[in-house]
Amino acid sequence: MANFLRVDGGAPLVGDIEVRGAKNLVSKAMVAALLAEDRCRLRGVPEISDVKIVSGLLELHGVKIDSTDRDGELLLDPTNVEQAHVADIDAHAGTSRVPVLLCGPLLHRLGEAFIPDLGGCRIGDRPINYHLDVLRQFGADVQKRPEGLRLTAPNGLNGTRIQLPYPSVGATEQVLLTAVRANGVTELRNAAVEPEILDLIAVLQKMGAIISVETDRVIRIEGVDRLGGYDHLAIPDRIEAGSWACAALATKGDIYVRGAQQQAMMPFLNVFRKIGGAFDIDDEGIRFWHAGDTLQSLVLETDVHPGFMTDWQQPLVVALTQTTGLSIVHETVYENRLGFTEALAEMGAVIQLYRECLGGSPCRFGRANFRHSAVISGPTPLRGAEITVPDLRGGFSYLIAALAAEGQSTVHGIDLIYRGYERFSDKLDALGAHYEVGGPKVA
Ligand code: EPU
Repeated sequence: MANFLRVDGGAPLVGDIEVRGAKNLVSKAMVAALLAEDRCRLRGVPEISDVKIVSGLLELHGVKIDSTDRDGELLLDPTNVEQAHVADIDAHAGTSRVPVLLCGPLLHRLGEAFIPDLGGCRIGDRPINYHLDVLRQFGADVQKRPEGLRLTAPNGLNGTRIQLPYPSVGATEQVLLTAVRANGVTELRNAAVEPEILDLIAVLQKMGAIISVETDRVIRIEGVDRLGGYDHLAIPDRIEAGSWACAALATKGDIYVRGAQQQAMMPFLNVFRKIGGAFDIDDEGIRFWHAGDTLQSLVLETDVHPGFMTDWQQPLVVALTQTTGLSIVHETVYENRLGFTEALAEMGAVIQLYRECLGGSPCRFGRANFRHSAVISGPTPLRGAEITVPDLRGGFSYLIAALAAEGQSTVHGIDLIYRGYERFSDKLDALGAHYEVGGPKVA
């Protein structure tokens, strides 16, 4: 089915837009509701397809979900959590990585959990070994079945000491969502401390959990017997905010992003400033613009928080094609998140990929055969092309490239972008973009 955007590029994006709750917090806060014995209220929820996917999964497990008249408000009633039919859960396979996070809460509520094969973006292997290892450490028994994984906890779930091999966001969330109701104390070392994780901890604390975040990536959780509901306004989406900032820079535009917050975006703002982007922060949001000067190349490494996050990398690379000199980007979070640059090269960008760790310290992909470093030579004018969205963030970066390029581009597969960018075509309208949508719109 046709599902594309035809973009007439070359004009600056100028105007105001708003970002709401972060996709990567909202989906987890929704899962946390499974642990509650009372109703939960989540505010600032964006209209993205990932929210629909998680809603569908929770509804299968008996959570009643309503949206109210208030924009972005979701009411979740988990008082009748029940086992879902395997075939129904399986129908959700391949659409999201969130199902694995249901394991701990379902084990607490029902004594068993079933998890289908996992999807998500194709940006590397994205295994779930850390998740399964920590669940086993809590006492879960994991059985592989042809249709997925079945988990039980014959002796309950018990607090434990966990050392993650890597500060994985998902594995840290898995520990939090399991430890809060486990018997005794859990000590997690080498935890991820992304702002979305701290916001999830805030949600859990509102529910009655006892969690302390200590120095050096240590999180300590004292299990409790009961968790109540919560009322929470989700942290704004810093990935979306950074994506629009990159669009402002690459199109020589000027975008005010209402809702963007400085604290969570500090690593991005430093990089944006170093390459010559201008920004101005007020209480409501951040204005990002191209000040008209030559943009400077830079050497950059993606990393877990407080580093420069991997999800900003793809939109930023498009802006880097417009900087003067050689930029180096070393992707250290995912082994395969630079493949999207091939299409940019077809549009006129000069980008070489390397297997070596370039420009920074060696990472865990250094000795493996992954092309995870990029050298971008600029500035290069971009020209319109026919391109197909490879994944969520890569998709948005193609949109930026098409908007920055001279001439017409056709961007296929835009439904993937709706997974994480709320009403992006309305936002393109607000910014004066010239484009038309082809095929059915998936909101
Ligand atoms: N990893 C393993 N085994 C595991 C889990 C992770 O090897 O069991 C590896 C991954 O393959 C990857 C690294 O650890 O190389 C980091 O993965 P992490 O677990 O931190 O990522 P995630 O929880 O699966 C979330 C976001 C991603 C974001 C990353 C990093 C959600 C739903 N997804 O994924 O967001 O890139 O953290 O910040 O929260 C996106 O929004 O487009 C997106 C991909």
